Amino acid sequence: MTPDQLLLPSSFRFGTATAAAQIEGAAEEDGRGPSIWDVFAAEPGRIRGGDTPAVACDHYHRRAEDVRDLADLGVHDYRFSISWSRVLPDGRGTINLPGLDFYSRLVDDLLAAGIRPVPTLYHWDLPQALQSEGGWLSRSTSEAFADYAATMVDALGDRVTTWFTLNEMNVHTLYGHALTDHAPALGMGLDCLPVAHNLLRGHGLAVDAIRAAGPRQQAGVVQQHFPVRAASDSAEDIDAADLFRILTNWTFSDPILSGRYPEDWVAELVLTSAGLTAQQLEDDLVVVSRPLDHYGVNYYEPTLIEAPRPGKDYSGVLEVDFPADMPFRPVRVEGVERTDFDWPVVPSGLTDILVALRERYPDLPPVTVTENGCSYHDSPGPDGAVHDDRRIDYLRAHLHAVADAIAAGVDVRGYYVWSAMDNFEWAAGYAERFGLVHVDHTTQERTRKDSWYWYRDVITRAAG
Ligand code: BGC
Repeated sequence: MTPDQLLLPSSFRFGTATAAAQIEGAAEEDGRGPSIWDVFAAEPGRIRGGDTPAVACDHYHRRAEDVRDLADLGVHDYRFSISWSRVLPDGRGTINLPGLDFYSRLVDDLLAAGIRPVPTLYHWDLPQALQSEGGWLSRSTSEAFADYAATMVDALGDRVTTWFTLNEMNVHTLYGHALTDHAPALGMGLDCLPVAHNLLRGHGLAVDAIRAAGPRQQAGVVQQHFPVRAASDSAEDIDAADLFRILTNWTFSDPILSGRYPEDWVAELVLTSAGLTAQQLEDDLVVVSRPLDHYGVNYYEPTLIEAPRPGKDYSGVLEVDFPADMPFRPVRVEGVERTDFDWPVVPSGLTDILVALRERYPDLPPVTVTENGCSYHDSPGPDGAVHDDRRIDYLRAHLHAVADAIAAGVDVRGYYVWSAMDNFEWAAGYAERFGLVHVDHTTQERTRKDSWYWYRDVITRAAG
């Protein structure tokens, strides 16, 4: 058995993933409206190096070249996201036909290349017009999201049947609403819980919209999950880790997969902060927990948590800092390799979280690992190639972790590398490079990295 031989089912689907705001660019072209990320990035000091997503990888104009690259790679699936404000510049109302047409042609190109298109309807880029009306703090945003979902299924549902509603509600809520590191930078702390609830409700209403389009349509959601461990055996650290796990993992998956919030106190907080009646909450949870056809898990790293130690400096552990009044603190995972983004490399965490999900949810739908990858800063060398051996090691180890989860009884159907190409890494701008393809952000030249060739071989070998 060669090191790259994996015990994966022959039907296993290999793919790559991207998101609209991270690759498309063409921010003001063909009638697109601004998203919260365009507004956020324009504010001085928000993004490393003053970068913005205005041009990104210029994928809007280089679609054909990028699809050819995916075809050569041999992926079965391509997960991309749709920019809501490209299709509906005001978030609702009049459809921007050139915007819709871009996605229609992308889908046609993918199908012609034998690749299954797997769109995500929302990857953090709310139309600014809706943010101005309260964004995800407002219940009406969930309804606008469902109408937008219906528009997309109506336009593409003759060719697309595999849908994901929202990407990583937990990260969007935490980084963009509790903290200020992502758009829309509200910094509300725990008061942002209504955002979580409205995102969950938007998901459920969108599932209904997808289902309404007919029995061929398959609906799912993408969540970031990560094992949370206590930094020590002390009762304080264990309590802090439990609280963090509840708030960042189970608050977003229990309502969907079990129809309830993980603890009564979470439900109570949601109810009071969102101004809901008990009956409304109960009715909402029925919508939120509509059965799904597939469940997307994004995994990057585990989190180690301790109760705050007075006077200790926690800066630099994650790329975000927690306010002093938060009752938990992420601490550095020691003794493991780290990526160039300084994230710990812990492949077994992927097996652990997949097994934990299987144990927590008896009715867990089939899982796809919808994102997994790493940022290493390798660029073309004198020979013109990008020798990113550390990415190959990372991906190989995580694919083995998936195989371990399958052996432990988790129904994992596919794995998508984040990302198809180097792109706009949110608050880190273009400095971080997650791609299988190197992008020169000045010339837009694409160079296939060694990991691209390696992944192509993995896919070819799995087929044979
Ligand atoms: C997001 C991606 C992001 C990746 C690496 C995930 O949380 O879905 O958009 O680029 O992590 O940070």
